[in-house]
Amino acid sequence: MSKKFFIKNIGTLYQVRTSLHKLTGSEFGKVPALHNAWVSVEGGRIKAWGRMDEFSGFAVGRDMEVIDADGASVLPCFVDAHTHVVYTGSREAEFVMRLQGKSYEEIARAGGGILHSAEKLRKAEENQLFEESVERVKMMIKNGTGAIEIKSGYGLSLESELKMLRVIQRIKNHFPVPVKATFLGAHAVPGEFKNNKAGYIQHLIHEMIPAVGSEKTADYIDVFCENGYFTSEETIRILEAGMRYGLKPKVHAEQLSHSGGISAGVRCGAVSVDHLEYANDEDIALLKESETIPVLLPGAQWFLGLKNPPVREMISAGLPVAISSDFNPGSCPSGNMALMMAMACTMYKLTPEEAYNACTVNSAYAMDVQNYCGSVTKEAKAHFIFLKKGYSLTSLAYYFGMPVIDKVFIADRFF
Ligand code: NIG
Ligand code: FE
Repeated sequence: MSKKFFIKNIGTLYQVRTSLHKLTGSEFGKVPALHNAWVSVEGGRIKAWGRMDEFSGFAVGRDMEVIDADGASVLPCFVDAHTHVVYTGSREAEFVMRLQGKSYEEIARAGGGILHSAEKLRKAEENQLFEESVERVKMMIKNGTGAIEIKSGYGLSLESELKMLRVIQRIKNHFPVPVKATFLGAHAVPGEFKNNKAGYIQHLIHEMIPAVGSEKTADYIDVFCENGYFTSEETIRILEAGMRYGLKPKVHAEQLSHSGGISAGVRCGAVSVDHLEYANDEDIALLKESETIPVLLPGAQWFLGLKNPPVREMISAGLPVAISSDFNPGSCPSGNMALMMAMACTMYKLTPEEAYNACTVNSAYAMDVQNYCGSVTKEAKAHFIFLKKGYSLTSLAYYFGMPVIDKVFIADRFF
């Protein structure tokens, strides 16, 4: 029998919505809320909600567990639509090198960066990779994340990319939160193809993508479109090859330079284009004519000391801006979405409501979970952040890095 819960005495229940769509314009700044509220849950899904003072007292039967929020506020979990959380070892030494003046690109050219993580991952045993990654996902859930996209891209060989995708599938089966998998074989050119990028692209298109496609272990295909990685034209070819196997496109776009990732992504009907520090007015106009979600990754931007993307311009143009963490060992060793909210507020001057909408409803669209994650709607997954008493949605950003989250309810248990 599916478990029932009645959560009562909620100070403020945030993100209560009757209809769902991407949030743009004036709606982007509003988070509909209900004060002094209750919500009922059955089988891990939200069934009903209302105000305590209007509660008609439906049968709170013996089969229903009552959770008393005691005046604390409750809000839907964050949706993190861009992570590389499956990896092994850290890149702390490179962090220190960057503090001493080396750039991300210089470190990568010297064999560090993505290739360094690939070297470690290829040697790692699958179970060890799984155990390490599970610990990170647990931390993410405890920090309020209720849906996660995870990319491959530290294998860069057929065998190791498939190993990563298997680990992502195991994570999906291990946790009660939705997990989407992205094949990112085009994250970098591996050492054995150092002077033969064309050869690696052939290998990607004719060996790796067909294998990934037939195993059906990935939902999306992604490419790092960047100087020294993959060009806009190569990005299109790789995305199109993936699309032939049912993989939906995503792009790492305009992070370190303007490389044409947005136009490649829009042309292929990408679900999202992510990073966007070097996006320009033409890119914004292209996005405006598309269904592609622009995903900002303020943690990676901050950690690498990059410039701001044109965020207010995107919002003014009516784009449904989303925010995610990019949790990875090189450019953002954090999957703390409340911290991403805080950064979006201080760096982009988003209001806490705008930042929260970008981290929930809009980011849900960036990983196709909008119908059941990121808002309080009928039949949505009951994934809730319980704040400590006296704290609000604004507190999540204001007390940056502080543990204002008391506990996280996922379907039928607390994390
Ligand atoms: O999203 N930009 C490319 N990929 C990652 C960084 C990966 C790494 O440095 O390991 C990112 O920032
Ligand atoms: Fe990334």
